[in-house]
Amino acid sequence: MLFEGLTTPSPDPILGMAARFNADPAPDKVDMGIGVYMDDHGRAPVLESVKQAEAKLLKDQSSKAYLSSAGHETYNHHIRALLLGTDHPAIDRARTIQTPGGTGALRVAADFLQALKGACRVWIPDPTWANHRGLFAGAGHSVSTYRYLDAETGGVAFEAMMADLAPLGPGDVVILHGCCQNPTGADLTPAQWAEVGELLRARGAVPLIDIAYQGFGQGLDEDAAGLRLLADTQPEMLIASSCSKNFALYRERVGALTLVSQSAESADKALGHLLPVVRANYSMPPDHGAAVVAQILGDPDLRALWIAELTQMRERLIGVRAALAGAMNQTGGRDYGFIARNRGMFVQLDLSPAQVDYLREHEHIHLSRSGRMNVAGLNRGNVARVGAAVGRLLRGAAHG
Ligand code: LMR
Repeated sequence: MLFEGLTTPSPDPILGMAARFNADPAPDKVDMGIGVYMDDHGRAPVLESVKQAEAKLLKDQSSKAYLSSAGHETYNHHIRALLLGTDHPAIDRARTIQTPGGTGALRVAADFLQALKGACRVWIPDPTWANHRGLFAGAGHSVSTYRYLDAETGGVAFEAMMADLAPLGPGDVVILHGCCQNPTGADLTPAQWAEVGELLRARGAVPLIDIAYQGFGQGLDEDAAGLRLLADTQPEMLIASSCSKNFALYRERVGALTLVSQSAESADKALGHLLPVVRANYSMPPDHGAAVVAQILGDPDLRALWIAELTQMRERLIGVRAALAGAMNQTGGRDYGFIARNRGMFVQLDLSPAQVDYLREHEHIHLSRSGRMNVAGLNRGNVARVGAAVGRLLRGAAHG
């Protein structure tokens, strides 16, 4: 029997939050759960640039015939340039395939590593995105962690990170968040990227950059500065990227896997080994979202509209981060300035699962039981209330 006697598994720590939020009848409930950008009215709308690109596609698209396992070639070309910059020296030794979301890119990367090298030692930050461990372990790799968050400052625990990475060996794979680290929002400085790059190179380890929030931190180019720096100095690297957030195309599943090799010839060969991994899994990615992104990035007017929309999202996030830090500072606990200094959608707080449950049950504030908040759920109407409630709880002035 396959299904008799199964136990009931716990819901996914991130995806499972939606059901609890939807079941909460409170009119002033606040959704700080899954990493979706919401506007000042708590909506996650389709971008205008996407609407216009979809209208063009509807009118002009002439075929739905199969593409290849690499997906939409024009999309791949634009994504490679968005990541590396058009004039980066590594662009000629980089190859990109379209994948079903950033998660798909990571899983294809994990399976690709397994196909090429067998089980690897994969290093993930602690804390990191809740799916990293399961994804790499599920592909048969062994997963080790390196410390990342300095709980005192809310910034990167760089010395601890480097100490934990000291045992790195040849062929080890190190996952680094490109920007807007999920869940801390704390990113490496350019000097720290360079230092990590030196260590990886000296040890023959391979960086795998997970960049799901390009444009949400400081800007499209600024957010890719770390990975561009590594592309300058590393012989080989992998980049898993996503258009879920910066194009708000979440459910369309649009991502990419980019490999950088030592030469154009070896990159082509590596691509040749990557495509069968895709073929044996899902054959080829769904086209629609990538066709939309290709339309936007290839049309100067649509591209400008998209950049304006992305800028607006970024600036709103920066604003709510500052407002939340201000509201929490007023509660008289610790200094929450790191919330304003860090970037992206997430803030990691030292909240226990019981305290998170308290916030949900008594304040109707929904966040991950790991203590991660998505600040995009905040707006002018609720940020003061949320900041006060969470600040009070952390100061020990409320139950939980
Ligand atoms: C998140 O971290 O909430 C997002 O990346 C969505 C997901 O797939 O987990």
